Amino acid sequence: MKFPIDRERLSRELEQLAGISEMTPPAVTRVVFSQADLRAREYVNRLCTEAGLALRSDAVGNTFARWIGASPELAAVGTGSHIDAIPNAGSYDGTVGVLGGLEAIGALQRGGFHPRRSIELLIFTAEEPTRFGIGCLGSRFLAGLSAAAGESLRDAQGQTLNQVREAAGFTGALDGTRLPAGYYSAFVELHIEQGPLLERAGVPAGIVTAIAAPAALRLKIEGEGGHAGAVLMPDRRDALLAAAEIALALEKAARTSGAIDTVATTGMCEVFPGAINSIPSRVQMTADVRDTDEARRDRVLRQLAQAITETAQRRGVRIEEEIISVDAPAICDPAIVGVLEDVCRSQGLAYQKMVSRAYHDSLFVSRFAPTAMLFIPCRGGVSHRPDEYASPEAIAAGSAVLAEALAKLSLLS
Ligand code: GLV
Ligand code: MN
Ligand code: MN
Repeated sequence: MKFPIDRERLSRELEQLAGISEMTPPAVTRVVFSQADLRAREYVNRLCTEAGLALRSDAVGNTFARWIGASPELAAVGTGSHIDAIPNAGSYDGTVGVLGGLEAIGALQRGGFHPRRSIELLIFTAEEPTRFGIGCLGSRFLAGLSAAAGESLRDAQGQTLNQVREAAGFTGALDGTRLPAGYYSAFVELHIEQGPLLERAGVPAGIVTAIAAPAALRLKIEGEGGHAGAVLMPDRRDALLAAAEIALALEKAARTSGAIDTVATTGMCEVFPGAINSIPSRVQMTADVRDTDEARRDRVLRQLAQAITETAQRRGVRIEEEIISVDAPAICDPAIVGVLEDVCRSQGLAYQKMVSRAYHDSLFVSRFAPTAMLFIPCRGGVSHRPDEYASPEAIAAGSAVLAEALAKLSLLS
């Protein structure tokens, strides 16, 4: 049973959504609860309403669009992703899972399919960490993040999560956002791979078996500033040079972990005072470490901690370390992986099993529901850039697999 995807409509909707941006297209920026994010939400909500789905939002702005099945008392089958986008991003990260999920539901509706279990499209709030420093905010709440942890979050302007969510119209207690085990019988997220493996192998579908475990840290380094000409080299306590050594030690720890799945990034480095003729006195930097194997990831974290201690001593700087998040990896549900394999085979679509090195909301959904992910190739493996691209054919193929998988999962007892 293959349900035809309306490729033109899906491409058009992706293009229209990409046009809702804080930057000039093709650069997409949609930071959570910004005007662009709110307009994008309105656009997607309208499409969901037009598809006859019942809409609701929770206190943090996660949006649920439900196609009510013949047995609405049963746990639903979920799909979805995010529409927020990091600064200077592309058009496909997250949006393919939202609009491709909606199109999958549309294809089932047009094909006269009658779901037994309800099928629900979930649009997560703030998968990206841009505003509050922590990724997968919406799905963390669904998985039980405490209201207290949420209330402590502030953006760079000092606004609290509660202030900005309430200003955006999402009110109510954050504690009420948690979804109970048994809310979903199955959850499948469609996403671009964000890496090059599918394209290189010429394989149109990736079935994800595990999602890497990310850890994120913030380091504050305090040295001593001074005149770039007058302070002699042996007398310096340069905060940026300490940061550079730590960044290189982190890179080395990841490169020598013994596994290609270990990755580490120093993505932010703010230098104070930031003048050409002034020795950096303060640096704030971040570290992002990921692996599908938690023990191996934690070994890299320990090596980082050691590099921090040694560098601080040797260079006479003070280093403060703050853990932003340390998450456990997810193993995808073998039964849903099996359903995705069956569907790919029945549709004559080659696939490979793979791990996700990027994190996704599915990492947190897997804590309360059986979860799996379906990847489609993206050009050159490029993501988080304006030239991110997935072809209409690739997106439609992913959406077609998703449609049939949702249908099968909704009929399961
Ligand atoms: C998600 O965008 C990630 O950083 O993996
Ligand atoms: Mn992303
Ligand atoms: Mn994403």
